[in-house]
Amino acid sequence: MMPNAAAPATEGSDRSVPLHVAIIMDGNGRWAAARGLPRAEGHRRGVDALRRVVRAAHELGVLYLTIFSFSSENWSRPATEIGDLFGLLRRFIRNDLATLHSDGVRVRVIGEREGLEPDICTLLNEAEELTKANTKLNLVVAFNYGSRQEIAGAAQRLAREVAEGKRDPASIDADTLGRYLDAPDIPDPDLIIRTSGELRLSNFLMWQAAYSELVFVPIHWPDFDKAALESAIAEYARRERRFGGLAAKTGS
Ligand code: FPP
Repeated sequence: MMPNAAAPATEGSDRSVPLHVAIIMDGNGRWAAARGLPRAEGHRRGVDALRRVVRAAHELGVLYLTIFSFSSENWSRPATEIGDLFGLLRRFIRNDLATLHSDGVRVRVIGEREGLEPDICTLLNEAEELTKANTKLNLVVAFNYGSRQEIAGAAQRLAREVAEGKRDPASIDADTLGRYLDAPDIPDPDLIIRTSGELRLSNFLMWQAAYSELVFVPIHWPDFDKAALESAIAEYARRERRFGGLAAKTGS
């Protein structure tokens, strides 16, 4: 069982623990190469890191954890590696779903389901269905996900409503479009972490990241642990979030 989370501080922008942490789990391949191991071993150790970080996020009082597990652009990798990543997702859901459920974790999935093998879609649906009443931690799995594709999908649904005469184009503002994204009820990430030293968003949550704090850490994902998460959260707590306004203390 997961221990109880530390009581969250006040919710909102002044919360020292982010309500929503999103992670680009980068560097599995380099972690493996540095040890003379196959890339698949890096991904396998990446799943071990994921288990640690889900537990740590809950212990630290995070309520939403989004992970970038397979991007729309990852289809350009060799078929064997794509097979490895899909195999890991299958095993992760088959082996870990019961534990996640008994720990009170709600699993949500964002990204395109079209084009995925039917058994993967079934597993993703089962995970969402089984855990839908859980409230301790929301684990949002971005799978076959790309931010541009998500925004284009939202624009397409809105355009259809306009074409059908159900919507006035003048009624469409940023809030409207936001409600047509994959998981509009999930708050925007307060903190986005990318491991392995790369300084990019790589088509991850670009709409939702408008006011996220970005923390880039030099270690590869398989080495990421609770201490690394705590240190990223400490960095977040030192930042002053202004959301386009003025500094709270100086008014300047
Ligand atoms: C980036 O490392 C990582 C990925 C493309 C996939 C992340 C996947 C996992 C951690 C495991 C699968 C997840 C689940 C939920 C089963 P990279 O391969 O781009 O590393 P590199 O840049 O060093 O080559």
